[in-house]
Amino acid sequence: MRRGAMLYEGKAKRVYSTDESGQCIIEFKDDASAFNGIKKGTIADKGIMNNTMSSYLFAMLSAAGVANHFLERIGEREMLVRRVQIIPLEVIVRNIAAGSMSKRLGIPEGKVLASPVVEFSYKDDALGDPLVNEDHIRALGAATDVEVATLRRLALTVNDLLRERFSSVGITLVDFKLEFGRANSMIFLADEISPDTCRFWDTATGEKLDKDRFRRDLGGVEEGYREVLGRLLSGSAQ
Ligand code: TMP
Repeated sequence: MRRGAMLYEGKAKRVYSTDESGQCIIEFKDDASAFNGIKKGTIADKGIMNNTMSSYLFAMLSAAGVANHFLERIGEREMLVRRVQIIPLEVIVRNIAAGSMSKRLGIPEGKVLASPVVEFSYKDDALGDPLVNEDHIRALGAATDVEVATLRRLALTVNDLLRERFSSVGITLVDFKLEFGRANSMIFLADEISPDTCRFWDTATGEKLDKDRFRRDLGGVEEGYREVLGRLLSGSAQ
């Protein structure tokens, strides 16, 4: 598989074309950013760890019937994916109140929610990725009503599968963000699933093992990511 022109560069990833028109290569960087790019830094080996973890989780989700863009991990930092047209929505699922939900609604961080909460944000850096509801999504033309219903259903299915997998290694899945894309009239889960895009708490101690260590200057950022990956892969053939 030959890597072609760079199609897109984001805060944590680069996307390249390949000689196969329906496929792209995602390269995971060590660069980290938070608060819509205001805080910047690097996390040693983050690109390698996030590629490894995302590849593992996408393969797991494929096996469970959740269509996603992952095709193959082709290098330490590189993943071969199906080329999709990204839907400009971030789909966030929350099991426990934290982060912006706690701030916005005054719900203390750590409160277990009665049932999972699904939120949509409109992907627009200039606007700061604002929270939107289904009427806003329709007004923006970001997705159809049928697509929104599909995104919600898929996000809750992914939540069930990830929660169970992480719980089996002593990690509580607090919340996470997903992105989806369209290809061949179908919807595929895309982007990444990693400590950049999820909140993971050690179930026994409550210790944060995700990007909040970077956002909140808690130290031990790389160690947190390594711990989650190590637990996930222990006993597997990665
Ligand atoms: P929030 O509490 O800051 O809204 O974040 C909720 C979850 O979504 C958390 O696991 C981090 C993830 N997330 C992203 O991956 N990218 C983003 O741009 C934002 C705002 C959140």
